[in-house]
Amino acid sequence: MRIPDIAPGAKVLALGHYQPANIVTNDDLAKTMDTNDEWIQSRVGVKERRVAPDGESVEDMATIAGGKALAASGLSPEDVDLVIVATCTLETQIPNAAAVVGHRLGIKAPGAFDVNAACAGFCYALATASAAVRGGSARHVLVVGSEKLSSWVDWTDRSTAVIFADGAGAAVVGPSDVPGIGPVVWGSSGDKSEAIAIKDRDNYLYQEGQTVFRWATTALHPVALEACARAGVDPSELSAFVPHQANLRIIEAIARKLGAEQAVIARDIVHAGNTSAASIPLALSRMLERGEVRSGGLALTLGFGAGLTYAGQVIEIP
Ligand code: UT7
Repeated sequence: MRIPDIAPGAKVLALGHYQPANIVTNDDLAKTMDTNDEWIQSRVGVKERRVAPDGESVEDMATIAGGKALAASGLSPEDVDLVIVATCTLETQIPNAAAVVGHRLGIKAPGAFDVNAACAGFCYALATASAAVRGGSARHVLVVGSEKLSSWVDWTDRSTAVIFADGAGAAVVGPSDVPGIGPVVWGSSGDKSEAIAIKDRDNYLYQEGQTVFRWATTALHPVALEACARAGVDPSELSAFVPHQANLRIIEAIARKLGAEQAVIARDIVHAGNTSAASIPLALSRMLERGEVRSGGLALTLGFGAGLTYAGQVIEIP
């Protein structure tokens, strides 16, 4: 047996994102359910979210975001040999999204699989991509988080409809002389697996909001600190903290405990809602586009959600 030449490190080479055009404001929701802008902004932090129309699928959004990341990387489709899509809102179980997205982008016969770790999915997929590049199983990997939560939310249920949204974010991962993706810290609390669930195809997404809120605000900052420690990075060295965009109060509670006062905190939820596995790459790509973070800085990602699953790692911003 021979092990191929392995890369000393892997890094994110480029990012891309996509949001559906249709903006739904809190006032729009208040017209059809018993809610109001003040409650949603103060309890969740969302002002508006994007909702994809009937014909626009998880794969469609993933393809656009993935195509943008690929274009920004300067690579051609032939350079990519693995596609991973993190999602938990596909309409059907098969085929997987990754094979469809790879084909649509003209990537020839890539390894292709989906990851379902719900809102932590992108961080799981990024860690897997990094390991594949470092281990010599792939040269360049397209990693996409894409979600259409609007298809799985009961639009008469104010406890979920005001939170979730649609969108996609993507990253191209490739080899690097200096590591640009730190060790992942990942885990799960399966004892709370019933706290967020879609029971079967006849049911909508159900969430025990308070159970998840308590868990997220008490159990996750040690994960964030451990991800920094494993990467050899002090929180004071972070340029950005990009947690899953679940709830602005959760984001700010974890950020306070992280103690990275100098870091820009992703607050993409305000305009994008909670897009599950898409939220981290979507937020970081948009922050980069707006010039809020600089290329070469260090960002801490922290995904968490149904399972309950969590994962985080330090990455160099492309
Ligand atoms: O992305 C996956 C991970 N998910 C999360 O991290 C979600 C974590 N949980 C949360 O973000 C919060 O628990 C929610 C945003 C889901 C809910 O916020 P909360 O502060 O925990 O509210 P609550 O469920 O305790 O409800 C408080 C009150 C209730 O009324 P009463 O019983 O006190 O009279 C609800 O009926 O607010 C009411 N309420 C609403 N009122 C207006 C619930 N939803 C709404 C609404 N508009 N949309």
